[in-house]
Amino acid sequence: MPLDTTDFLDIDDVTPAELDALVDRAAALKAGGVDPQLRDRTLGMIFEKPSTRTRVSFETGMSRLGGHAMFLGPDDIQLGHGEPLRDTARVLGRYVDAVMARLFDHADAEVLAEHADCPVINGLTDEAHPCQTLADLLTIRESVGSDATVAWVGDGNNVGQSFVVGAAMAGIDVSVATPAGYGMDPAVFDRAAAFGADIEPTTDPAHVVADADVVYTDVWISMGQEAEREEKLAAFDGFQVNADLLAGTDASVMHCLPAHRGEEITNDVLESDRALVWDQAENRMHAQNALLVELLADE
Ligand code: CP
Ligand code: NVA
Repeated sequence: MPLDTTDFLDIDDVTPAELDALVDRAAALKAGGVDPQLRDRTLGMIFEKPSTRTRVSFETGMSRLGGHAMFLGPDDIQLGHGEPLRDTARVLGRYVDAVMARLFDHADAEVLAEHADCPVINGLTDEAHPCQTLADLLTIRESVGSDATVAWVGDGNNVGQSFVVGAAMAGIDVSVATPAGYGMDPAVFDRAAAFGADIEPTTDPAHVVADADVVYTDVWISMGQEAEREEKLAAFDGFQVNADLLAGTDASVMHCLPAHRGEEITNDVLESDRALVWDQAENRMHAQNALLVELLADE
């Protein structure tokens, strides 16, 4: 089923039915292996920020699908030396079949999509990380099932914002606990409400964890926020996912990685049987392969 959208800038660029089909396809590709459906297709990958999972999963995924991915880091292309983004977009669109971009400003992803004459995939912006959400929904389906209740604990950041909307689209119950001043954009809850979710964010982690099948957290200091470190560490006191917070529950734990052990999560929790994090990381590739096939394959 080809997608209605040509770009994937956030999770609700697809419909709930398309999202369900993407997760189905991801599960099938994971179980059955991939055909080289994207032979001779090229993915340009723009990175303004570092990455392990996003870079390697897209590059390996394209290779397994018979295509090719090209790493375009800040020092590799003229974008990092003053060429305007819209010019970069127009030129890349003449060469590659799709662009995946990891950027600071979400508005830049929109500029790319507007000017590149090919699909543009968001590989993380300051606002959103929809490829992570695809992998997370596959992980939840595999581990606890889609009637799970998930508690987001920690920063109201890019990963959390896309996850809350995607979970609502998938019919997963989500609760949110974020420190005062570090909540999600209120528009995120309106977007989730459009899919039937009624989320009242709280500042009390214990409250949301009590009923959760899964507790999901992410770093407190996202890429680009290094100058806010001391202020944020103080504000996030009490939000660490640790044995005390999880006591009395048998909740699984998710984290998009990279984790900062001793900050948002303890080493013992991350290394415990509760952690789904390695499956999440693996599922990035299967989920993105499904997305690439839906966006690019001639079916
Ligand atoms: N989760 C994630 O996007 O990881 P990377 O920053 O390593 O790509
Ligand atoms: N919130 C984190 C996610 C990293 C994958 C960041 O933006 O740095």
